[in-house]
Amino acid sequence: MSSRTTGSVTVTLDGTNRSATLPLLSGTLGPQVVDIRKLYNELGIFTYDPGYGATASCESQITYIDGDAGVLLYRGYPIEQLAERSDFIEVAYLLMYGELPTKAQLAEFERGVTRHTMLHEQIRRFYDGFRRDAHPMAVMCGVVGAMSAFYHDSLDINDPEQRRIAAFRLIAKVPTIAAWAYKYANGQPFMYPRNELKYAENFLYMLNAVPAEDYRVSPVLARAMDRILVLHADHEQNASTSTVRLAGSTGANPYACIAAGIAALWGPAHGGANEAVLKMLGEIGHPKNIPDFIRRVKAKDSNVRLMGFGHRVYKNLDPRAKIMRQTCHEVLAELGIKDEPLLDLAMELERIALEDEYFVSRKLYPNVDFYSGIILKAMGIPTSMFTVIFAVARTVGWVSQWKEMIEDPSQRIGRPRQVYSGPAQRDYRPIEARG
Ligand code: ACO
Repeated sequence: MSSRTTGSVTVTLDGTNRSATLPLLSGTLGPQVVDIRKLYNELGIFTYDPGYGATASCESQITYIDGDAGVLLYRGYPIEQLAERSDFIEVAYLLMYGELPTKAQLAEFERGVTRHTMLHEQIRRFYDGFRRDAHPMAVMCGVVGAMSAFYHDSLDINDPEQRRIAAFRLIAKVPTIAAWAYKYANGQPFMYPRNELKYAENFLYMLNAVPAEDYRVSPVLARAMDRILVLHADHEQNASTSTVRLAGSTGANPYACIAAGIAALWGPAHGGANEAVLKMLGEIGHPKNIPDFIRRVKAKDSNVRLMGFGHRVYKNLDPRAKIMRQTCHEVLAELGIKDEPLLDLAMELERIALEDEYFVSRKLYPNVDFYSGIILKAMGIPTSMFTVIFAVARTVGWVSQWKEMIEDPSQRIGRPRQVYSGPAQRDYRPIEARG
């Protein structure tokens, strides 16, 4: 790792003459960071940061976000350029290995991913254990976790070759697992991957094709899916990625770690938000109901949130949201959807919220999920699959972050501390003496 010490911060305990001088680290971009590792040994105090809003949990060279300026870089490349000029498989290579591939490297990487797209045939039977109405994210957590039970030859995290195979397996198989979760819920036959198709095309094929007829994947929809995958591929130390790193820090195998990431992604404050946006639009129902809905969102102590708005890091327009908005219009034009009531409703909601003092003063802008749900709905993908598609895309980010962590010599088991505010030590009282 390559951050440099560029200064120091001295912390003094008020009312004592005790102080500690802590190194100030600089990365390539972003604010300086105080290295507090010596703080407890020198002053006997911890730091307190619930939600980790002011804490760097690791050093990473993968993704950079400037939330105030609305900047997102993968390995230094702006997301806008990657969304416009690259594709998911090239972005996957970039995230995993740090550089854009040559033609030969890309061809070999794509071949490697393609060769692993099928699932162990016994995993097919695993699906039968789920209820038909199981949420596909529940199936994803279960089946990805169960990969640990099927691929014993890639569980040794200390062997670089086993790590490499596990990474390929996860990136290659997760679209198949996702598509089968959908097919299972639908009662349709599982479609096996077609290795002559590109990653996003193959995913759409496995989702939409049936054995009874030919299915041609629309290039515009394949491009839109590819763009959704690129935009969601990584986002530095968000909740699910931190979950993967925390699980991985214990030495757990990669399949178990990614299953943990999928579980964290499921929540409506994170990856579940695009599903929640559609649910919210359905509940609002008509633009005339927007003012009343906004009133409920703004009411003190109401738990109603404008889903798809706000972000822990972006206090400016999420750059992914800008690209998604444009893709959304392209997809609707390709599909010949002129009057999409949900889109009209979303646009009106966006217009009102961007002018409203409540949202403006809190810097709450539309995030990527505000638009991705609408695109996916227009593509005919059911709401319950939205977060699953996010998980398919993010698998490459999780795997890259997990690999970086394992290869980092300063890596230790993740073990946060706490401010204890429970009872002080007291003696056990027999039941007869209580009350
Ligand atoms: N609607 C209404 N008010 C909001 C919203 C929202 N979507 N988001 C934040 N606020 C308000 C809060 O009530 C709070 O107001 P207050 O200062 O009067 O108490 C203020 O803005 C700050 O909010 P926090 O909860 O402190 O912001 P935090 O950074 O913790 O939350 C989060 C970020 C979870 C994304 C939040 O904005 C949210 O719940 N958004 C809706 C869900 C969503 O779209 N999630 C997707 C995130 S992107 C992704 O995962 C790909």
